[in-house]
Formats: sequence, C-alpha cells, structure tokens
Amino acid sequence: ATAPHASEAIAVAAERRWAIIVALIIGLLLVMIIFTGVHWASMPPSRVETIDPRKLHVEGEFVENNLGTAVGADGKVTVRLIAQQYSFEPQCLVVPAGVPVTFRATSTDAIHGFLVDRTNANVMLVPGFIATFTATFDKVGERVMPCHEYCGTGHEAMWGRVQVMA
Ligand code: CUA
Repeated sequence: ATAPHASEAIAVAAERRWAIIVALIIGLLLVMIIFTGVHWASMPPSRVETIDPRKLHVEGEFVENNLGTAVGADGKVTVRLIAQQYSFEPQCLVVPAGVPVTFRATSTDAIHGFLVDRTNANVMLVPGFIATFTATFDKVGERVMPCHEYCGTGHEAMWGRVQVMA
C-alpha cells in the first residue's frame, strides 16, 4: 500500500468543507420554512377576524337580535348577517341609499357566497371567519342577494333580498 498522495488529502478536506457548508444551507432553509410556517399558521389568512361558528345566534356579535341593519352612535351603518344551509339571516336586508354600508358576515356551516346583484358586493363567507366589506347602494329599489358558491343540495334555493331605501 502506498501512502495517500498529498493532493488526495487536500481534496478530501475540501469535500468535507463543502459538505458542511451545504448541510448548513439546508439547515438554514429548514429553519426558515419551519419559522414562517409556524408564524403564518398562528394567524388567519389576511389576518381577518375569526369567530367561533358554534356561538353564532347564541352569544357575541352575531346573536339573533344583533342581526340586520344597525345605525351606530356615530351614524355609520352596519349590516350583520349569517349564512347557513340554505338561507341568509336575515332573509331581507333594508339599507339606506347613498351612504357607505359596512357588512359583517359569516357562515355557520359550509362555505357560502354572498353577492348583491348589480353591485360590487361580492364575498365568500367561510365558517370561522368574519367577512367585512363596505358597499354604497346608489339606486333605490330591490336587489337580489343570491348565494353564489355551491354549498349543497339546497344551494339554488339560497337567496335573499336587499331593499335599498331613500
Ligand atoms: Cu349557500 Cu350556495
């Protein structure tokens, strides 16, 4: 047996050095993946508000007598509504024309769609999350408010009305 050549020892040392560098890079990437995964998993998508669907109708903001249109002390109009298989509650919303109306809506069971005909009001209602958006209704009259996300056998019967008042 001959003694290893000097250049072989240099090559082995270089390979070991690169193996350590690669291992460190992979380790760093894994730490980044785990950190960002845990970070984002700990908060809802888009940091929207969450709500316990089991408490809808029963307690908190979405109790029965808090649903529908409300005018706050500051004059701002808020509509709260719940979607469920296969209806909206309330079935008919009454809103004023020409002022911004803030909607706060959620679902008790499946994912529903919320849409007000001929407006830009269009949002998904996901159980556990409160969808919030603001819409202004320019014209007085009645609009249909269908569920536009397939939510089960009664989907096509799921719709309500919006009455825009002067
Ligand atoms: Cu609710 Cu489709």
